[in-house]
Amino acid sequence: MLRDELELLRRLWFPVARVEDVGHERPAAAELLDTKLVVYRGSGPPTVATDRCPHRGSKLSMGRMVNGAIECPYHGWRFSSDGNCVCVPSQPEAGPHTILGTWPTVEKYGLIWTCLGPPLIPVPSLPLIDQADHESTKEIAQGAPFDVRCGLRTVTENFFDSSHFAFVHPVTIAPETPIVPSFTVERNGWTLSWEFPFTVLDADEALLSYEVTLPSVAQFAMFCPDGAWFVLVQVVTPLGTQPVRSRSFWFVAANPAYRERHRGLAEEVAYQATVFAEDVPVIESLDPPEVPLRSDEHVHVRADRNATAYRRLFRELLQLHRQQPVSNAIVDADVISEPAQARRG
Ligand code: FES
Ligand SMILES: [Fe+2]
Repeated sequence: MLRDELELLRRLWFPVARVEDVGHERPAAAELLDTKLVVYRGSGPPTVATDRCPHRGSKLSMGRMVNGAIECPYHGWRFSSDGNCVCVPSQPEAGPHTILGTWPTVEKYGLIWTCLGPPLIPVPSLPLIDQADHESTKEIAQGAPFDVRCGLRTVTENFFDSSHFAFVHPVTIAPETPIVPSFTVERNGWTLSWEFPFTVLDADEALLSYEVTLPSVAQFAMFCPDGAWFVLVQVVTPLGTQPVRSRSFWFVAANPAYRERHRGLAEEVAYQATVFAEDVPVIESLDPPEVPLRSDEHVHVRADRNATAYRRLFRELLQLHRQQPVSNAIVDADVISEPAQARRG
């Protein structure tokens, strides 16, 4: 991975945990770009901090929540949601000091997002899900995140690849691959979209509508002729770079017509988990493990038009990063390798 590509990723928002995995009683361990993180929740919004106690380096994610503060499992120092040390049991008069580095957080779509540098672009939006949010019938179900030994672009491109179904999912999706029709990829900001008709197992010919928003948010929506619709969203977080590892967060949403006539959400989550499990060994075998940004490193056909557009847009984002170096960025952060609020007590 290019050094400036890594710097770019540090300026983008990624989910590091599901909201449901971070309770008021227990913190959660997370990882982003080789940085170990702890996610915890006091009385307000969640906190994402470096998973390393400043006293002796213990993993705070192995601790517990006490009165809204995270307690280190080694000597019991406690840190509030803004990183302040609020309790040193062996020396009660010490503190408070802001000594735990924290990162910005946003809670969106049932996920807790963070960014390790001054953000280059906003947290991605999903208009279809946002719109469903306003309906009383809205329902979203999170799947269990899964880890893969390949890059975020590899996982994202696999999500919207429509010509692998018969070979990787002959039973779960389709026994034969129909010719992928010609489609047009449209661009709106950092989002690409396209659609085409498709016949999927128990449905009649449905309209498949895809959207991908940089860096790695992909949405697949299926609109059936009977008015039922279903959405599958995947967001891929880069865990590490050497070797390349990613974590896929994903969730489903569907309207009542879909849930009644096709599948309920729990059943849909189980089905999609089976499909993803079929993809994993194949995408982990790809060489190189991360999709190169140079489009001439692969041979493309018509069905890959979305992939070439995605790579082109990613190169454009890298260019934007190069044109807006960190020193000129929107958020006042002096370095990108340390948490913005880290200070020594
Ligand atoms: S290592 Fe955390 S309190 Fe000592
Ligand atoms: Fe697949």
